[in-house]
Amino acid sequence: MLKESQWKTSTGFILASAGSAIGLGAMWKFPYMAGMYGGGAFLLMFLLFTILVGLPLLIMEFIVGKVGRTYTTEIYSKLTGKKWLNIIGWNGNIAVFVLFGFYSVIGGWIVIYIGIVLMQLLHVLPSKLHDIQFEAIISNPVYTIMGQFIFIGLTCVIVMLGVQKGLEKASKIMMPLLFIFLLVIVAKALTLDGAMDGVRYLLQPRISDITMESMLFALGQSFFALSLGTTGMITYASYAPKEMTIKSSAISIVVMNIFISILAGLAIFPALKAFGYEPTEGPGLLFKVLPLVFEKMQYGTFFYVIFLILFLFAALTSSISLLELNVSNLTRNDNTKRSRVALLTSIAVLIISIPAMLSFGSLSHVQFGAGTIFDNMDFLVSNLLMPLGALATTLVVGQLLDKDLLIQGFGRDRFKFFYPWYALVKYILPFVILAVFVLQLV
Ligand code: PFF
Repeated sequence: MLKESQWKTSTGFILASAGSAIGLGAMWKFPYMAGMYGGGAFLLMFLLFTILVGLPLLIMEFIVGKVGRTYTTEIYSKLTGKKWLNIIGWNGNIAVFVLFGFYSVIGGWIVIYIGIVLMQLLHVLPSKLHDIQFEAIISNPVYTIMGQFIFIGLTCVIVMLGVQKGLEKASKIMMPLLFIFLLVIVAKALTLDGAMDGVRYLLQPRISDITMESMLFALGQSFFALSLGTTGMITYASYAPKEMTIKSSAISIVVMNIFISILAGLAIFPALKAFGYEPTEGPGLLFKVLPLVFEKMQYGTFFYVIFLILFLFAALTSSISLLELNVSNLTRNDNTKRSRVALLTSIAVLIISIPAMLSFGSLSHVQFGAGTIFDNMDFLVSNLLMPLGALATTLVVGQLLDKDLLIQGFGRDRFKFFYPWYALVKYILPFVILAVFVLQLV
């Protein structure tokens, strides 16, 4: 294990894994998914899945990383002696590669928005926030490819700098700031006319909105938002100091993630009702609604730029973990190869991100399976590869690993939480994930 590949402190590890978890999933994807699948009903299912399925799985991934301490295309054979099980690590690598491909499209939109709003702020552009033409921007391949290039480039540079220097420092400053900003936006959104309709839409579940489809997407969302099933969290835990506390780290990440998702919903739905948008607006929801909220604030353009920069940062701390997973496996944690591999992987990601980006423009008519190319990439990762990876890991942990090793990985446990957690992972969660997985294929 290379020294450089370790977090200096437990706090560094928690912040970085929270950084990986909290990103576009909570802030961009959650509100639009909730809008498409019933508002309050979606939130309720998301909460249940996150707490009952996501949290135990996150603890599981942390334990695997902590006791395995190596890259994830090696860790499964190291722990079980079965080489073929490393395929689970490869599944995760493919998942994050494709994920980065469509993630960078949205990252690119944020970059473009920062450019436009900065120009408005500096009066280079005479327009106002409400003049920003979302559809025209995202269907323009020149703008979007520039945005993606910058987003992927930034991710690449941070990963090249190495684990400690790049990731740990950055996470410590920006996440708390983002949280404060979200609170301010929510406070403003709640003062808009008709805001309470939006609040009710998000917080009052209508049982009739709970369908098989919405359940599948709610589970997919809890996987996506906690970075589960890709072995990304296993990688981060394998870098952590031995004394890290697994339970409290996992709980704090889950709580933060839930908070940010709800805050993002509370920022968007009241505004959406106030400005007469439909909740089923899709991926553009956040980009269309928030400028209108900021416009109602004093110095709104200025604050919107700051918000977008923080939002970009949240997306970057997640995209870093996507690229980091590929780099750690392709270099087998050999830091002398880090820069070259990070660069080549980033170029490959840029290439596969192009069809995803064109899904909002010249390739929007290409529809199959789950929808556009972009939708299918998301579906493949969030609803197939991630649950599959998580299912396989529950089987390894529940059936093959030594219980004493797991107890040791779980750490000191005054209240004997280990046992219910173990029972869940061994006897219940594999069936839950399998059931959802099969239903989805049917
Ligand atoms: N959890 C991230 C988000 O919500 O934006 C996305 C993600 C990052 C998923 C890393 C998977 C992963 F391995």
